Amino acid sequence: MMRALIEVPESATAFGVYVHWPFCAAKCPYCDFNSHVRHQPPDEERFSAALSRELTHFAERTPGRTVTSIFLGGGTPSLMKPQTVSTVLETIAKLWTVAPDAEVTLEANPGSVEAERFRGYRAAGVNRLSLGVQSLDESALKALGRIHSVAEALRALELARKTFPRLSFDLIYARPAQTLQAWRAELEAALAMAADHLSLYQLTIEPETPFFRLHETGKLKIPDPELAAAFYALTQEITEAHGLPAYEISNHAASGGESRHNLTYWRYQDYVGAGPGAHGRITIDGVKRATMSEKHPERWLAKVETDGHGLVTDEALTLEEAADEMLLMGLRLREGVPRERYRQMSGRGFSTARLEFLREHGLIEAAGDGRLRTTLDGWLVLDSVVADLAA
Ligand SMILES: C[S@@+](CC[C@H](N)C(=O)[O-])C[C@H]1O[C@@H](n2cnc3c(N)ncnc32)[C@H](O)[C@@H]1O
Ligand code: SF4
Repeated sequence: MMRALIEVPESATAFGVYVHWPFCAAKCPYCDFNSHVRHQPPDEERFSAALSRELTHFAERTPGRTVTSIFLGGGTPSLMKPQTVSTVLETIAKLWTVAPDAEVTLEANPGSVEAERFRGYRAAGVNRLSLGVQSLDESALKALGRIHSVAEALRALELARKTFPRLSFDLIYARPAQTLQAWRAELEAALAMAADHLSLYQLTIEPETPFFRLHETGKLKIPDPELAAAFYALTQEITEAHGLPAYEISNHAASGGESRHNLTYWRYQDYVGAGPGAHGRITIDGVKRATMSEKHPERWLAKVETDGHGLVTDEALTLEEAADEMLLMGLRLREGVPRERYRQMSGRGFSTARLEFLREHGLIEAAGDGRLRTTLDGWLVLDSVVADLAA
């Protein structure tokens, strides 16, 4: 018999719904997200009907929950017709109670075709846009293989500001040949245009991407760890000075501007993941379950049409596994993790010797209210901090 997980009633916690749209107009050479290019546009009605079926499957297993956030991610969800977005949101509203102040985010690429659809998404119920600007430098956009220009990104930003109550955008930094000085100028320009949220990612070289092969053969050079740390420190300094400090390793917000949906992941609360390759964590009868759907879009579609869901993983986590996941997610956050929650879930506290060691090396610190958090230096080596604490 598995020990029950929850310390607070299920209904008192956040509950997110993630929907994955797996298509892109072009594949960026650095990206290993589950995104695919199709010569023929996908049959949106069929995909939307399958999403409804998979969402229905999850709703039957999570009755009585109130949806606090919805996130349409990708891939490029801004390739979806506004009607498809509307259908997905209506389905969610039929299946669960949606909180009146629920955050509803859509990820968008700045191409002009997508920008024209913004009004339609707003009418469908999207109240937050996350725009993939990536860079404000024309040659950097080309080097990243992006198919939009800086001018298009600026137009999309302006339109998004007028259309949506909340707006965030993404930039990638620590790029090949980028200098700290150039990044300072680019980031300051971005902050001048930012609303109350920004996502700033250091370029990572992901296996099986074209960038990986170029990097392996020495044709693409990214900053060494020392310079990467300097990029990171500079980013913290500038964003803090502009009132958008990091609340998570790569995410910055003014107080209250945090992404509620992403906080749900990092606080290890429940979320449903529907669509190809989507992950979910849902608590059923006091036990946290990990779900994942088939990654390949057309195979996912066929599986949903046959089985009513596309799940290829649906397993109960032991409390120890859940505690480790909670730690890995929670230490990404500036607010850190409640030590008592870890103690209850794992059935043991942290080792005093390990805590002392990490503290002496300036990697962790107390965050008040019995919470433990990673320092800025700790964030740079998060995986080893977590491995050490969970050992
Ligand atoms: C799932 S992507 C979707 C956003 C949207 N399709 C776009 O590209 O604008 C989310 C974000 O992850 C970031 N990203 C993807 N691959 C990355 C990599 N290898 N290194 C750093 N950031 C990356 C990009 O900033 C991107 O906006
Ligand atoms: S970065 Fe965005 S647009 Fe580019 S391939 Fe990945 S998901 Fe698609």
